[in-house]
Amino acid sequence: MPTPSQSLDKSHYVIRGGMEGRARLRILSRVMWPSTLNLLQRAGIRAGMTCLDIGCGGGDVSCELAHLVGPSGRVIAMDIDDVKIAIAREEAAALNIPNLEFRVCNLCETEPTAEFDFVYARFLLTHLPDPCSLVAKIRQALRPGGTFVVADIDFRGYFSYPESPALARYVALYTEAVKRRGGDPNIGPRLPTILTAAGFENVQMSVAQPAGLDGEVKLISPLTMENIADAVIAEDLASRTEIDRIVDELYVYARMPGTIGCMPRVVESWGQRPPA
Ligand SMILES: C[S@@+](CC[C@H](N)C(=O)[O-])C[C@H]1O[C@@H](n2cnc3c(N)ncnc32)[C@H](O)[C@@H]1O
Repeated sequence: MPTPSQSLDKSHYVIRGGMEGRARLRILSRVMWPSTLNLLQRAGIRAGMTCLDIGCGGGDVSCELAHLVGPSGRVIAMDIDDVKIAIAREEAAALNIPNLEFRVCNLCETEPTAEFDFVYARFLLTHLPDPCSLVAKIRQALRPGGTFVVADIDFRGYFSYPESPALARYVALYTEAVKRRGGDPNIGPRLPTILTAAGFENVQMSVAQPAGLDGEVKLISPLTMENIADAVIAEDLASRTEIDRIVDELYVYARMPGTIGCMPRVVESWGQRPPA
């Protein structure tokens, strides 16, 4: 079982945490849900499984996993952000989900033992300086034959129509901020190779990219820009004035009928720990 870290360090993470970060993740999870459910089913989620959701954020997918594995299964969800975990615990208690447990934990400092049938990681590896070593640990956390499912971004896949200069600037700022903090904003296409190198078998992949002319998907870009403002300023990439202008322009674009709003391209990959 991974052990909680004593010395948590969230400085590598570019997106605002706590309450505001939680609100954005709630919208993100609703926008992603059709493709997430499809992915979990294709990867073989089943009743009775013991699951681990790493970098679980507010626990939106953790709750769904708890429903999918049912009362005979259980889910452990971990994140470094103690505020998000506290909110997630309260929400899960209010929803009466007894087979779900949240833990505050720096995953880079864990020592796992093989106790899980299914490990899920969404939008986590992109933020880590050494994603390969975490994937090696995930392999250790799985029972032989267990499945690892990962979904992560390729920011090069962002698009707008009509062309939005504000979106292009937001993509450039996000990309540079993540790189400066040691992450890879375009990690998506690397995922199958990372899984194969870590010793996973039957590695597969697919691509999801929610997009639309209306609805919450159109809010993702302005919300994310707002939530990376502190990191962008700390990295000296743009002024507060410029960020406020980009956010305004992104909201104007989102509200305009006929404009296309989208998520970045999301690469999904999954594979099994070889049987013993
Ligand atoms: C973009 S959010 C995704 C949350 C969730 N997986 C989802 O898709 O809704 C990334 C999460 O990873 C967490 N995180 C980043 N680095 C971490 C680390 N080293 N250990 C544990 N959690 C980490 C952040 O606190 C954040 O909640």
